[in-house]
Amino acid sequence: MAPAAVERCAAKLNLFLDVVGRRADGYHELVTVFHEIDLADRLSGVVTGDGDVTLEVHGGGAAVPMDANNLAARAARLLLRDAGAARGIALRLEKTLPVGAGLGGGSADAAAALRLVDRLLDLRTPSERLHALAAELGSDVPFLLRGGTCLARGRGERLERVPVGPPPRFLVLLPGFGISTAAVYAALPRELPPPVDPAPLLRALASGDVRALAASTHNALLPAALAVEPRLAQVLDAVRDQLGPGVQLTGSGSALFLPFRGDPPDVGDLPHGTTARVV
Ligand code: C5P
Repeated sequence: MAPAAVERCAAKLNLFLDVVGRRADGYHELVTVFHEIDLADRLSGVVTGDGDVTLEVHGGGAAVPMDANNLAARAARLLLRDAGAARGIALRLEKTLPVGAGLGGGSADAAAALRLVDRLLDLRTPSERLHALAAELGSDVPFLLRGGTCLARGRGERLERVPVGPPPRFLVLLPGFGISTAAVYAALPRELPPPVDPAPLLRALASGDVRALAASTHNALLPAALAVEPRLAQVLDAVRDQLGPGVQLTGSGSALFLPFRGDPPDVGDLPHGTTARVV
């Protein structure tokens, strides 16, 4: 039987996200704190003999790219080509993470595809090379390849692990719509607001003080995301009324999160189409 393997494609939250500059390549300089969470897609693969990459997608709805543009298929093809491997791979993606949520779903699938192809074909790609391929695929892919909790700079690819005390739990709220990341970045004001210091958030993470954590989350993309998607303002107002001002946006949205410890907060009546997960 052909070798087969399975990978979890874990999502991320941006506990802190500041935009500190515009780059000549059209991207933005970020200071962000990524935190891996226990929400995931599942990617499995089987080695094939013909050098081709195929992908079957289950779940996730119409917004998930089914073809060669799917980031998992692109990642597998990139690593096979980079390694000069003559064999191919048949991928099967079970999609649970919503698209356009700021949870890094597509990037998580790509990171898992790099790990899967490397393992299945026993390529033993050096970790710096895998990191460079991940950065080619997208700004969030290097972190999702590594996991854990990291402070990131550059486009998001310059990673530094940060200490985490007693791990916080999170309520994650998923509005029933996605938001385009490119549209949110394009809606940033010409003059960026002054930088925000991530130190209070990093201290709260290290000490495990969940109140301080909720008070020090930050997302410089929030005003632009609200401008791009007016439905987000309705959801955010409603959940902040119910759960307090500590509810924050992850990435370019649409998902929101609230750190907590102990029993999960009572979400009450969520706005139409919004669902909650506890991680
Ligand atoms: O890198 P990725 O493909 O995930 O980025 C999606 C879009 O988000 C980019 O096309 C760009 O518009 C924006 N982006 C950015 N600066 C970053 C990360 C993403 O402008 N650091």
